[in-house]
Amino acid sequence: MSGEPRRIAVFGAGYVGLVTGACFAELGHRVTVRDVLPDRIAALQRGEVPIYEPGLDELLARNRDRLRFTTEVADAIDGAEVVYVAVGTPSTYSGDADLSAVWTVVDELPVVGERLVVVMKSTVPVGTGERVRDRLDARGMGAVGYVSNPEFTAEGTAVRDFMRPDRIVIGAFDAADGDLVAALHAGIDAPIVRSDVASAEMIKLAANAALMTRISFINEIANVCEATGADVVKVAEGIGLDHRIGPAFLRAGVGFGGSCFPKDSLALKQLAANSGYHFQLLNAVIEVNELQKRRVVGKLRHHLGTLRGTTIALLGLAFKPNTDDIREAPSLVLAGRLLAEGADVRVWDPVATSDELHGVTHVDTVAAAVAGADAAVLVTEWPELAELDWEALGASMRRRLLVDGRNMLDRDALRAAGFAYEGIGRGAG
Ligand SMILES: NC(=O)c1ccc[n+]([C@@H]2O[C@H](COP(=O)([O-])OP(=O)(O)OC[C@H]3O[C@@H](n4cnc5c(N)ncnc54)[C@H](O)[C@@H]3O)[C@@H](O)[C@H]2O)c1
Repeated sequence: MSGEPRRIAVFGAGYVGLVTGACFAELGHRVTVRDVLPDRIAALQRGEVPIYEPGLDELLARNRDRLRFTTEVADAIDGAEVVYVAVGTPSTYSGDADLSAVWTVVDELPVVGERLVVVMKSTVPVGTGERVRDRLDARGMGAVGYVSNPEFTAEGTAVRDFMRPDRIVIGAFDAADGDLVAALHAGIDAPIVRSDVASAEMIKLAANAALMTRISFINEIANVCEATGADVVKVAEGIGLDHRIGPAFLRAGVGFGGSCFPKDSLALKQLAANSGYHFQLLNAVIEVNELQKRRVVGKLRHHLGTLRGTTIALLGLAFKPNTDDIREAPSLVLAGRLLAEGADVRVWDPVATSDELHGVTHVDTVAAAVAGADAAVLVTEWPELAELDWEALGASMRRRLLVDGRNMLDRDALRAAGFAYEGIGRGAG
């Protein structure tokens, strides 16, 4: 790959757009990031980073000379050779991906004299590239190239994932456009999978579905462990050492959430259904996950009886550690269920907050969350939770009950500190 510096416009200054822009600047390219949110762009222009993503602040600061931020399309496109689309693609009520932001970008691209290549980073249904191609052609922009280059980064490790990915997937209608996108990644040591556009789109959806399937699989194994007296932590270790299986994504817990898995599973399920195929396995994966989020309530009831009038501390709001993203977080479902059961709910998270969680009390420390509480539920495995003096925290609680929704804490130490400890799938303990 030749590493010639290019001029790149990135549409969308969210988790993916900002990381993509910052990482391409780090690789030597000149990047203009465009968003429709004036406050977000103004903050970025002032050097403030509007999202929490480890390493992103430093990367943006270090590459300030090669990065610009704008709300103007013309400003972003001026001199650009490549236009990355990194706008949101949330679910519609029908479960389909809402591509309205993608279409807005496609329609607002000006007809320019220079040759442009549009690159799709957003996660989109299979067939989207074909439709974008048609729309560009219909606008007299047949010379504009189109490439699918899906994103596999995970929030919390996005910068590292971008710079050291397992693979880079590039699906192009025209091989030369694919070559250009491959060359943008010069300096990154990773296999490049070249394919047609539809296959690149499907690789992204299938990869997410495979990961979600593993999570729901181990959660169901955990539930059977609970019923039969086995310990899912040991079981996961034992099966994960099989080289045909591997250890990743075998941690039982309170289910998956986040801005990608839930909506992407719905989008793939819907894509299949719209094409006349009932994706039975994926339907089960989604249903298992919904039930898993609610199982904690049963565990609390088992110890406390009715939850009406109890105080429950939820430790963690973010859908996983090292992010402030709470989209589709299991904590939201859990909080809603607990409130419906009549419990008072206190929520602690070191970075995430939510204006939408009506009826819960947000507190700044774990100590404030658990003081006088009837139970604490570990929802997000923030590392600091393992460092706490649980003996002292337990002394401040009305009842020493801990439901460890991520099997993160040392259950023997917790029990020695007088806690009734409940993990997920730890039947024998
Ligand atoms: N978040 C992740 O970890 C992740 C990982 C892989 C793939 N993806 C996919 O990447 C895409 C973006 O995800 P995200 O989490 O960054 O979303 P996000 O919601 O954090 O950011 C999207 C941004 O696009 C902006 N936007 C909307 N319309 C615009 C327009 N016309 N021009 C410019 N900007 C516009 C929004 O204002 C917002 O700031 C989605 O399709 C998502 O599924 C996300």
